[in-house]
Amino acid sequence: MPDLRFEATINGRRVSRSAKPHQRLLDFIRDDLNLTGSKEGCGAGECGTCSVFVDGVLMKSCLMPVAKAQGAAIETVEGLAKTGELSVLQKAFHKAGASQCGYCIPGMVMAATAALRSNPFADREEIKERLGGNICRCTGYQKIFDAVELARDVQNGRLPATALIESDTDEAVIGKSVRRIDAPSKVSGRLRYAGDMTTPGMLHVQVLRSSHAHARIVSIDTSAAQAMAGVEGVITSADVPGEDGFGVFVNDQPVMARDKVRYVGEAIAAVAAEDLLIAQRAAAAIKIVYEPLPEIFDPDEAMRPGAPVLHDYAPDNITKHIPIRVGDVEKGFAESDLVVEETYSTQPIEHAYLEPEAGLAYVDHDGVVTVISPDQNITHHRHMLARIIAKPISKVRFIMSPVGGGFGGKEDMIYQGMLALLAMKTQRPVRLVFTREESIVSTAKRHPSRTTLCMGLKRDGRICAFQMKMICDGGAYGLSTEGVMRKAAILAAGPYVIPNVRIDTYGIYTNNTPSGAFRSFGALQTAFATESHLDICAERLGLDAFQIRRTNAMRDGATTHTKARLGSVSLMRTLDALEAASGWESGAPNSRGGTRGDLGRDDNRPPCALGARLASNRKQEAAE
Ligand code: FES
Ligand code: FES
Repeated sequence: MPDLRFEATINGRRVSRSAKPHQRLLDFIRDDLNLTGSKEGCGAGECGTCSVFVDGVLMKSCLMPVAKAQGAAIETVEGLAKTGELSVLQKAFHKAGASQCGYCIPGMVMAATAALRSNPFADREEIKERLGGNICRCTGYQKIFDAVELARDVQNGRLPATALIESDTDEAVIGKSVRRIDAPSKVSGRLRYAGDMTTPGMLHVQVLRSSHAHARIVSIDTSAAQAMAGVEGVITSADVPGEDGFGVFVNDQPVMARDKVRYVGEAIAAVAAEDLLIAQRAAAAIKIVYEPLPEIFDPDEAMRPGAPVLHDYAPDNITKHIPIRVGDVEKGFAESDLVVEETYSTQPIEHAYLEPEAGLAYVDHDGVVTVISPDQNITHHRHMLARIIAKPISKVRFIMSPVGGGFGGKEDMIYQGMLALLAMKTQRPVRLVFTREESIVSTAKRHPSRTTLCMGLKRDGRICAFQMKMICDGGAYGLSTEGVMRKAAILAAGPYVIPNVRIDTYGIYTNNTPSGAFRSFGALQTAFATESHLDICAERLGLDAFQIRRTNAMRDGATTHTKARLGSVSLMRTLDALEAASGWESGAPNSRGGTRGDLGRDDNRPPCALGARLASNRKQEAAE
C-alpha cells in the first residue's frame, strides 16, 4: 500500500509528512516527530501512557491509526509546556511528589488536564473516575489525586499560585520531604527512557523466542533471514565468543538458548535490521527444528526421582536448598499445649512495571562495547558481559537509563547480551524495545510458593516450636533464586523469640518462566505463611491477634534464629501504632471478612476500586 500524506496540527504547528498506512498515531508521533513524551506501556489501550488530545478529545494513540487523525488538531504532553514553563498541573505534580519512576506521568498529566478541562471543579471522586483509564504502578495514586486537587484549587483561585512553589528556602533536606529533582523532566515528557533513545544509523532488533517449554534444538537455519534486504545481522548461541552464561548466583542461562530450550519465550535468535518490520519478518523466517523433551511444571513433581532433568549440573532439579536448625523441634512440639499445621501457597506475580524492557548498544570509537538500558545491577552485568563477549572489562561499558519501574525485575541481564553481540556483529548501533507481551512471557516473576508450616504453642500463646518447609518454583533458570531462598529462610520465623526452629526452603527448576528478584525478595512468601498461621493459632487459643505477637516479640538486644544480634527492635512500637491506626477490636476475633466492625470504617482506606466507585454510589449502597 502506498504511503499517505498526513497533514495535521501538532502542538499548534502544521505538519505535513508521508506516513505508513498501517502506522499507529503513537508511532508517528514518537518515531517521525521525535515527540517521545507519549509512551507505550501496553500497546493495547489499557494503561493510558500514550494519551494525547485529538481535536480536544483525550485519546489513546496506540489504538488510533494515523489516517484517522488526518486534518486533526493534536496535542501531546510536549504541548502543555511549549515555552518551557510548566503548566499549573505539571507544577502541581512536581509540588505534590506525584511522580516516581515517571513512566506513566505524561499520560497521567494529559488525563488530569482532560479532567479539569471537562470540569474545573471536579471533586476527588470525580478526578479518580476521570483518571480511571490510566495506570500507575508506583505511586499508589494518592499523590496524583492530591496534585490534581492542588492544580484545581490554584486554577480556581481557592489557593494562591504560590501554593505551587517551595514552602520554604531552608536548604536542610534531612527529616523533611524534598522535591524530586527529576520531576520537571518527568511531568513534561522530556525525560528519555531507553526506548525513547535514538542515534544515527541505528538498527532495530527483533528476538525469536521458543514456542516449546522443553525441547532439544536439532537445527537452526538463519539463511533466509540473512538474505533479506535490510537485514544487517542475525545471531544465535554460535555467535557467543566467550563463556555463555549469566545469572545472579549461578551463571546457568545462555544469552540465547544453546542446544535446548527450557521455557516458552526463551530467546533463540535475534535479528538487527533497518526497521522493525524487516526485523520481525526476518525473525519469522528463521527455521528451527525441535525435538520435544518431557516437560515438568510442578516443583513438587520436579523433586521426585525420575522427573525430567533441566540442567545436567542439578540432577535433582534443586537450584538451592537453605536449611536452618535451632534447638530441638520434636521436644518443642512435645512441650506444646496446641500444635497447628497448615499449608499456604502464593502465586507467581508479574512486576508489571509500566516501562517494558528496552536497550540501545553500540561499539564506540575506542572499541568499547556500550549498553544503555534500565538496568538495576550494572556493575555485576558489566563483569558478566565482559566474560560473555570475551573482552577485558575496560572494553565494556554499561550506562543506566532512567528506570520506568523495576521492583527487582530489571536485575536480570536477559537481553543486554544480545544487544552487545549484535552491535559487535553489525558495527552499528542497535536498539531493542520489548512489547508488553514479550515482557510478560520472557522475564522473571515472583517465586510461587507452597509452604507447610507446623507450630507448637503454650496456652498463653508462647511459641515452643516452629517447622516450615517451603518449596518455590524457580522456573527454568537460577537468576536470583538462591538469594530469595536464603532471605526467605532467614526471615521465615518472623521477629519472634522461638527456641526450637527447623526451616527448609527449596528453589526448584521447572519448565516455567524463570522466577527472580521482586520486592521483599522471599520475605513475602514466608511472612504470609507465618503471619496467617499466627492469626489461626490466636483464634484456636482464644487470644487477641496483637497479644500473641506481643507475647513472642523480639525486644532490644534479641538474637535472631540465624545468630544476628539486634541492637534495637521497633516491633512493639510498630504493633502499638498499627493497632491504634487500624481501630482494631481487641480480643479473639469472632468473625471474618466484611462482617468485621473494624474494617471499612471512615478512617480506614476502603478496598481499591479505582475509577469504579463514586461517593454517590457509596452513599446509595449505605442507604440500601
Ligand atoms: S493505552 Fe496506549 S500504550 Fe497503553
Ligand atoms: S510513577 Fe507511575 S508508573 Fe511509575
